[in-house]
Amino acid sequence: MTDALNLREVTDADLGVFFENERDPEAVQMAAFTPKDPEDHEAFSAHWTKILSMPTVIARTIESNGQVLGTVLSYEESGEPEVTYWIGKEHWGRGVATRALGLFLSEVDTRRPMRARAAKDNVASIRVLEKCGFRVVGEATGFANARGAEIEELVLELD
Ligand SMILES: CC(C)(COP(=O)(O)OP(=O)(O)OC[C@H]1O[C@@H](n2cnc3c(N)ncnc32)[C@H](O)[C@@H]1OP(=O)(O)O)[C@@H](O)C(=O)NCCC(=O)NCCS
Repeated sequence: MTDALNLREVTDADLGVFFENERDPEAVQMAAFTPKDPEDHEAFSAHWTKILSMPTVIARTIESNGQVLGTVLSYEESGEPEVTYWIGKEHWGRGVATRALGLFLSEVDTRRPMRARAAKDNVASIRVLEKCGFRVVGEATGFANARGAEIEELVLELD
């Protein structure tokens, strides 16, 4: 992909695109660790209002030529920074996640070590993380709402 891509602060107007991206059934299956009901707009809005007010969360909108492609954000888990991202399905497979995560890690949140988690079968996300320098440091199991079951996840770290 050669289109320009940039990160900027999240605005309320972006949340509609995030909601559509994050309720897509294929994407929800892939991410696995999702809200109980991805169609619940009220819960989605409450969640974003909360995280955007948290000083420990750094959220960015991924944009290309003024079009919102998705989001990348870091938060703290037991005091340690973790990163996650979500790209609209129509933009998959063009290097967007890899480039957006690279920008985020070099320009926005440079705390290290930085952790990330992905369902063990989320091959695309694991590949994105590895291309950005993350290495697998552990495995865990957790209840994945999208699968209605406990599943395995990989824990990855960037030094
Ligand atoms: C995972 C996700 C972020 C990938 O975004 P993307 O912009 O398509 O990723 P990129 O194009 O930067 O790179 C994806 C890499 O994974 C590979 N890949 C993509 N889809 C794949 C698949 N289904 N199986 C195997 N590899 C895949 C690509 O080939 C590429 O690797 P390569 O450069 O070695 O060829 C996107 O699919 C998404 O938002 N999914 C839903 C939310 C999610 O899972 N978020 C992560 C939670 S941990």
